[in-house]
Amino acid sequence: MIQQINSRIRQIPNWALYLLGAVPVVWLYVQGFQNALGPDPVDVIEHRLGLWALWLLIAGLCISPIQRNTPLRLLKLRRPIGVMAFMYVLVHFLTWLVLDVQIPSQIWADIVKRPYVTVGMVAMLLLLPLALTSNDWSIRKLGSKWRQLHWLVYPAVILAAVHMILQAKGFQLEPMIYLTVVLVLVGVRRTPLYRRR
Ligand code: HEM
Repeated sequence: MIQQINSRIRQIPNWALYLLGAVPVVWLYVQGFQNALGPDPVDVIEHRLGLWALWLLIAGLCISPIQRNTPLRLLKLRRPIGVMAFMYVLVHFLTWLVLDVQIPSQIWADIVKRPYVTVGMVAMLLLLPLALTSNDWSIRKLGSKWRQLHWLVYPAVILAAVHMILQAKGFQLEPMIYLTVVLVLVGVRRTPLYRRR
């Protein structure tokens, strides 16, 4: 059974994964244009894209622990998931920039004055070099430096979860749960159990 799942995963072409990953964002925008997202569609799009981005980042963090502790071979999915996570962050950011803030002078003011925006920006900028180097050519060129560079994903995901907490109105349990999940997934990598294998 597990062998079958592994061989099915191996057979999935990357383009199909990217196509599948694009469905939620396209669907969200289609709903927005059809006025099916309530009175504030931009706000809904912004929030849902942010959530998708965080889910994908968390999914990316889950791959390696699953690979190490179960017979499931999911490594093939890590790069497409990571690249798609960044795409969602980018569209989330562009939605904010183009459809929400709009006024150029307000953009910088928001980045500097609103802590959640500042933290979100730092998280996105940390992910940028990872997205740019998620290709075979960069892996070959960078050699062992590639691994060191991709360590940036950990502070980036932690900051993304902090960004979610900061943007929430008042105390909310859901962002706290996300931060806890992220801290556990990052923390587990530092345990001897994880490093021994
Ligand atoms: C790694 C990068 C990022 C991730 C994973 C992320 C994720 C999220 C999440 C999960 C939410 C809350 C969604 C909800 O509760 O429904 C959110 C909200 C938001 N994010 Fe991000 N975000 C990132 C970067 C950014 C950046 C760079 C900006 C803009 C500069 C930004 C602007 C916003 C805005 C405007 C909101 C909604 C705030 C509100 O309604 O008051 N995010 N983001």
